[in-house]
Amino acid sequence: MNALVVGKGGREHALVWKLAQSPRIDKLYVAPGNPGMADLAELVDIRVDTPVSERDKLSAEIDRLVAFAKERNIGLTVIGPDDALAGGIVDRFRANGLKAFGPTAAAAQLESSKAFAKELMERIGVPTARHHSFTDADAACKYITAQGAPIVVKASGLAAGKGAVVCHKLDDALATAREMLEDDAFGSAGSEIVVEDYMVGEEASLFALCDGEHYVTLVPAQDHKAIYEGDQGPNTGGMGAYAPAPVMTPALVQEAEAHIIQPVLAEMRRIGTPYQGVLYCGLMFTDEGPKVVEFNARFGDPECQILMPLLKNDLVEVLEAACDGQLDQIQIENYPQAAVCVVMASQGYPGSYDKGLPISGLDDASAREGIVVFHAGTTRRDGAVYTDGGRVLCITATGADIDAAVANAYAAVDEISFANAYCRRDIAHRALNRGR
Ligand code: GLY
Repeated sequence: MNALVVGKGGREHALVWKLAQSPRIDKLYVAPGNPGMADLAELVDIRVDTPVSERDKLSAEIDRLVAFAKERNIGLTVIGPDDALAGGIVDRFRANGLKAFGPTAAAAQLESSKAFAKELMERIGVPTARHHSFTDADAACKYITAQGAPIVVKASGLAAGKGAVVCHKLDDALATAREMLEDDAFGSAGSEIVVEDYMVGEEASLFALCDGEHYVTLVPAQDHKAIYEGDQGPNTGGMGAYAPAPVMTPALVQEAEAHIIQPVLAEMRRIGTPYQGVLYCGLMFTDEGPKVVEFNARFGDPECQILMPLLKNDLVEVLEAACDGQLDQIQIENYPQAAVCVVMASQGYPGSYDKGLPISGLDDASAREGIVVFHAGTTRRDGAVYTDGGRVLCITATGADIDAAVANAYAAVDEISFANAYCRRDIAHRALNRGR
């Protein structure tokens, strides 16, 4: 079959890399993709990365992609980014008789509206932090003052992974609420905010692939959202990840399935928006058991870059089964290994940074045993590769265990250089310290 991946980052490179291994694939396309994928798939110059707030522009981009998919007889489309999902890309593909893996816009509200997700969880008793939603800054500040710090203030809409602010001081929480609601710090994504209790525990992610009724789960993973070592500083899209995350024991996975995934899928069916796609459960492992921090409606980035190398199954078969309501026929198998991904970023990210800096050492790093270099923000000119984003590369390593994978990943990182490259040197520190 011909297949299409939508997106341009490290997550999509990992999806393309995995799909390209399937004997079912005749021709693979990626729109728009990046230079790292060019050997595996044909890059298509159609972008659907306009924010969902610019509905008409995003809609026109989706129209172009639907026309392309029809013309090229695409049998399966896999959607990477959240804005495209929230903008209804899956609805439009399906309306045109095209198979697309991902939730409809209504179902993707589990990510695109934190208020929707919190209300759904509260209604059916899914464990999560107590919350209130606000559109008025004075009301929000009155509530925050009554609660005190620490407290969490979140933009309800899509904010590129940066919309959740953990405030340890009351003044910071009040300022954050006003910045979101009055100063448009996150644009329309922050026109509604969710204020919730601060949860104490270790955070990890469980990814369920869902077909509306059935689901399968992948290896539990943990990512590092903060820019600095020790998980300090502002949140980024993610600076590294590893799996399996030892904090999520098989018993806790079962608990999360029974108390979170199954009731959420049942409720989504009951309200007429069956959930098909990736249900990314961001969980906090508290003394009272796993609680939901947030849901996302897509693969994590960079978590996808570690989950794909660990997955034994043919991804085409798994995703097709999800689209066809047949995930009960699929048994997920993983390689008995660990995987670690280290993001090499441009100095300054998640703030401003330079682009267009030449990258060297990619071939040497990629030639190492157990290493895949996924491109996130790169561009190619005259045969050379240059930086083109905040997160530039995701160096993924597999190994017999987390220690081996970490050592392997940093050995590959050290082969690669570009001016002002920045990476965290403590990826997987919780797993490593737990072992010791
Ligand atoms: N790694 C965080 C995210 O994908 O949202």
